[in-house]
Amino acid sequence: MNTLQIDNALELLENEEYGPAKVALKGILEENPNSLSALLGLGDLFFATSDYENAEKTYKKIIELAADNSDAFFGLGATLRVVERYSEAIDYYEQAFKLEPERTDAYWEVAYSREMVSDLSGAERDYKRCLLNNPNNSMAQHLLAALTGKNTEKAPPRYVSDLFDDYAAVFDAELVDELSYNVPQQIKGEIKNVLFKEKTKQSLLDLGCGTGLVGESLYSLVQEADGVDLSPKMLEVARAKKVYNRLYETDFEEFLFNRDLGKQEYNIVVSGDALVYFGRLDKVFLGVAKRLSRAGWFCFSLEDNKNLDYQLQRSGRYSHSSNYINKTLTASGFVPTIEKSIVPRTDGEDDIIGKLYLCRKH
Ligand SMILES: C[S@@+](CC[C@H](N)C(=O)[O-])C[C@H]1O[C@@H](n2cnc3c(N)ncnc32)[C@H](O)[C@@H]1O
Repeated sequence: MNTLQIDNALELLENEEYGPAKVALKGILEENPNSLSALLGLGDLFFATSDYENAEKTYKKIIELAADNSDAFFGLGATLRVVERYSEAIDYYEQAFKLEPERTDAYWEVAYSREMVSDLSGAERDYKRCLLNNPNNSMAQHLLAALTGKNTEKAPPRYVSDLFDDYAAVFDAELVDELSYNVPQQIKGEIKNVLFKEKTKQSLLDLGCGTGLVGESLYSLVQEADGVDLSPKMLEVARAKKVYNRLYETDFEEFLFNRDLGKQEYNIVVSGDALVYFGRLDKVFLGVAKRLSRAGWFCFSLEDNKNLDYQLQRSGRYSHSSNYINKTLTASGFVPTIEKSIVPRTDGEDDIIGKLYLCRKH
């Protein structure tokens, strides 16, 4: 093995060229099965491609060979966190921090694992440890706010993109098959009813389109569809479905106010389970009104709150009161038309309690 070979393989990995990176790393390991840098590259590659079983095996092999390899301990902690084996993850993170205490940005990861095993004071302490040295770490900021009941206006964009990048590979299978996610069908039901009476070309904007489940459900009803999302990995899955004409990788407030779309206007805007990452919605609603044609339709789902206008929940998502939504829609130039109680999906044994709204621009 020479360092050039390993440098090339790691560069491929860095550029997310996973196929060629895997071939290069395996080639190095054939000649030198105990190369720690190649094994670490391979572990990271398995992690990045959501092959958590092989990531775990590879990081454990590194630890057998070099019990002081902090990267392998952090990698193993992250792998076990993602597959929800939180107690084991905590053990490996603790060993990792002993070896490399200065990697303070990873404290949010162990904090989250502690939160998941109900060690709430440990979680709070470790989110704060993360923020002490990394005050802009969005994961720690948002999760600490959610844990301590602080109400904020919006989830930080970096929190959203990291969260959904991690989730993209399994999103469709998990949400639809395991959590009975049904918002795309609910939105389709409402849009179908109103479009039936209209004859113009239907152009759709899907805010927080994710992997494209809503776009797929509306595909047969519209002539063109654009999607906006912050997560490049969710957009990659959406792109492969070929239901959108254009996909924009950006925050949708940014898109609604600042993107130059020429003469493009939409007559339908939808948002399935994405506005739950906003507390304050006045700016988003004004932005939607700006992009909608006259008498255009806006349909979206939210989680329900009986008392407060909006509230950041422990889940990291926001819930909204119907009173707040209706007054904000009205102030933004919409006529609220339908408000329907729904169960957008389950959460473990519990139902999430939500609302589907349909409104029309004046
Ligand atoms: C739960 S997923 C729902 C995806 C899709 N709408 C569906 O119904 O399957 C929420 C999506 O909203 C996106 N999202 C949340 N906040 C956003 C923001 N401020 N700007 C753009 N996308 C956002 C996330 O990246 C994620 O893909």
